[in-house]
Amino acid sequence: MFTTRELQDEIIRLKKEKDVCILAHAYQSHDIWEVADYVGDSYGLSKQAAQAQQKTVLMCGVRFMAETVKILSPDKKVILSNANAGCPMAEQMDVELISNMKKMYPDYTVVAYINTTSELKTICDVCVTSSSAVSIVKNIENKNILFIPDCNLGRWVAGQVPEKNVKLLQGGCPTHVRMSLKDVEAARAEHPDALLLVHPECLPEVSERADYRGSTTGIMEYAKKSDAKEFIIGTENSIVQHLQFACPDKRFYPLSKDCVCHNMKLTTLSDVYQCVQGIGGEEITLEPEVMEKAKRCIDTMLTLGE
Ligand code: 13P
Ligand code: SF4
Repeated sequence: MFTTRELQDEIIRLKKEKDVCILAHAYQSHDIWEVADYVGDSYGLSKQAAQAQQKTVLMCGVRFMAETVKILSPDKKVILSNANAGCPMAEQMDVELISNMKKMYPDYTVVAYINTTSELKTICDVCVTSSSAVSIVKNIENKNILFIPDCNLGRWVAGQVPEKNVKLLQGGCPTHVRMSLKDVEAARAEHPDALLLVHPECLPEVSERADYRGSTTGIMEYAKKSDAKEFIIGTENSIVQHLQFACPDKRFYPLSKDCVCHNMKLTTLSDVYQCVQGIGGEEITLEPEVMEKAKRCIDTMLTLGE
């Protein structure tokens, strides 16, 4: 039987021996962060995926993230750390629905949050992530934007880019919408000196009351640089723990104990160990035509996001 430390040492030895790059989304647990080559938000992961030198990439996150890696690096072997880890938001809208919307709104540019399936990306114009959405929407020439699938993120983006005409559909993250105005009032009353930092996937009434809104990386950077000593964190609760490790002299409180993404939590350190041995996870395969068409949407994001 291994201790956590021994398992981590073995993973680090094996990933070097087998030429595996481990990418981890910020919502992964801290024991996985410690063995990863790169940890970050969805935009950072996409950029790393395009640059990784290793022959195999292990994505510790959810399925659309592993698919993005495969699309950006089709010659690499890409493994999703736990085959059951999907993002429910990514499944909310399909090709048929958005094709119909495109017929109804032919003069709109379709902006897809990266939390979408590869198939859906094939018919969209550009991808965005929470950290890149505002600047990308600003950089799009067209005034008319159809933003899918997250209406909460889309509403926040629209507020930052008033010169655009942004149409939204009714989708969103089932984890972040669990946080309510009541949670904000209770947390503010309990921690009156704390700043409230939230993810833009939150409901508008939560977002509007925050001191800062941003991606997982944005929230972490803000808290690290801030002179404040206490923070209420309105995103997946793993960020509370990661920040407490990063800033032991500050205090971090979850906005709600219910903000847990069970899909992100599926991957364990043992899964990572199996994957670096070559016996676990799921190798991502996509149709060449899907990869080619979805890549345009992701490449446009990387170009407009710079
Ligand atoms: P970011 O890490 O890009 O902020 O995304 C959050 C999220 O919900 C990913 O699924
Ligand atoms: Fe999907 Fe929300 Fe989980 Fe992110 S936090 S993977 S958007 S369900």
